[in-house]
Amino acid sequence: MIRAAVRVLVSNWDGGYTIPSRRLYPHQWSWDSAFVAIGNARWSPRRARTELLSLFGAQWYDGRVPHIVFNPAVPDGAYFPGPAFWRSRAPSGSATSGLVQPPVHALAAWKTHLAEPDVAFLRRIYPRLVAQQEFLRVARRSPEGLVSIVHPWESGMDNSPAWDLPLQAVEAGAAGFVRKDLDAVSADERPTDRDYERYVALARAYRDSGYRDPGAFQVEDPLFNAAYGVAESTLAGIAAECGFDPAPHEREAASITAAMVEHLYDDGLFHARDVRTGCLVRSSSAAGLTPLLLPGLPREIVNALVGTALDRFALKDGVLPSYSPSAPEFDTARYWRGPSWINLAWLVWQGLKDRRPDLAAPLAEGMIAAVSGAGFREYFDPFTLRGHGCHDFSWSAALILDVVAEHGLEGVPAAGGEVGEQPGGFGEAGDVGDHVLL
Ligand code: SER
Repeated sequence: MIRAAVRVLVSNWDGGYTIPSRRLYPHQWSWDSAFVAIGNARWSPRRARTELLSLFGAQWYDGRVPHIVFNPAVPDGAYFPGPAFWRSRAPSGSATSGLVQPPVHALAAWKTHLAEPDVAFLRRIYPRLVAQQEFLRVARRSPEGLVSIVHPWESGMDNSPAWDLPLQAVEAGAAGFVRKDLDAVSADERPTDRDYERYVALARAYRDSGYRDPGAFQVEDPLFNAAYGVAESTLAGIAAECGFDPAPHEREAASITAAMVEHLYDDGLFHARDVRTGCLVRSSSAAGLTPLLLPGLPREIVNALVGTALDRFALKDGVLPSYSPSAPEFDTARYWRGPSWINLAWLVWQGLKDRRPDLAAPLAEGMIAAVSGAGFREYFDPFTLRGHGCHDFSWSAALILDVVAEHGLEGVPAAGGEVGEQPGGFGEAGDVGDHVLL
């Protein structure tokens, strides 16, 4: 499994970063690169550092880290919406999108440092990570002290049922575009055309405002805010390691945690809040469990989240659905509407490892069992573990390396068991050229 995971990461490496998937996502994606760095840190910390520095090489002057950095060698028609749609360039000259994604990069930088201590790397990336947070504070902070997103693509969980209600305020607009994603993945595993029309209309309006004005969609998302809070806690550690003052980061982490508890928590789960209406968007998204990542979360809230994870997300079975199966909107196979994703399970696993090792263990085993059965697919049916979305998906491979390094190979079927959808399971890994630290 380790060799197969490394082989996926090697074959998706484009020289300075890792594409998420050859056919579906042939450029660099922001939070994908962070997850990939976390896995690469386990076998090639050098590659992990390069991955993060290459992403931050496309950071804008205002501090935003674009959610896509386009590879000029890939034909414009290979991905929609491509550079001709976004019409924006980073100061480095790279064509980029103008949206952002959850800021999980400080965590990735820190884990890279832990795998192979390198204070020079930390000192180089620290001001960029601070600027990334500063952009969110300046451009996206709401009066409640939370950070808002202006597009479902910024949540990373694009098609979550949590966005169904806020998206009703968005005019779909004329189609006039050709989807490329359906060339690679079956339509019933991807967002509908109607959803895509809204995504495109929103992105176009944001672009036409010079990537400044939030349009018809503006929400405070629990996963995004949890990532922002964890970034501040992690930056405190990075600052201390570099000889800088950690106190402002500690204060900011405490303040976002308090604001999340006050404004986004209700009845055992965190929810998104629609900034335009001021209303909580009650949903059953597993994003609402990710505040478990926050070190300062009050104990009674941790206990309530664990109760919800057990009751509504079947946490004991080890496979975390992205949306509660008990909710009517749940779908086993459609993008972010229920299937299990390795990155989401990994985030919740991070939040449980120290607090509830008894529950973190089955989650680790569930992630390993999913890729053992189906390979490094993009997402998985949470009941049958059938694979969905694209194949050889980078963060599924990367995060499994991290899980295996900490947890061991519990959950992998014994030799002779069923491994992988194709005969021969993961197949033979070739020479990967880097020393495997696992
Ligand atoms: N996740 C989006 C897509 O499906 C873009 O960020 O293309």
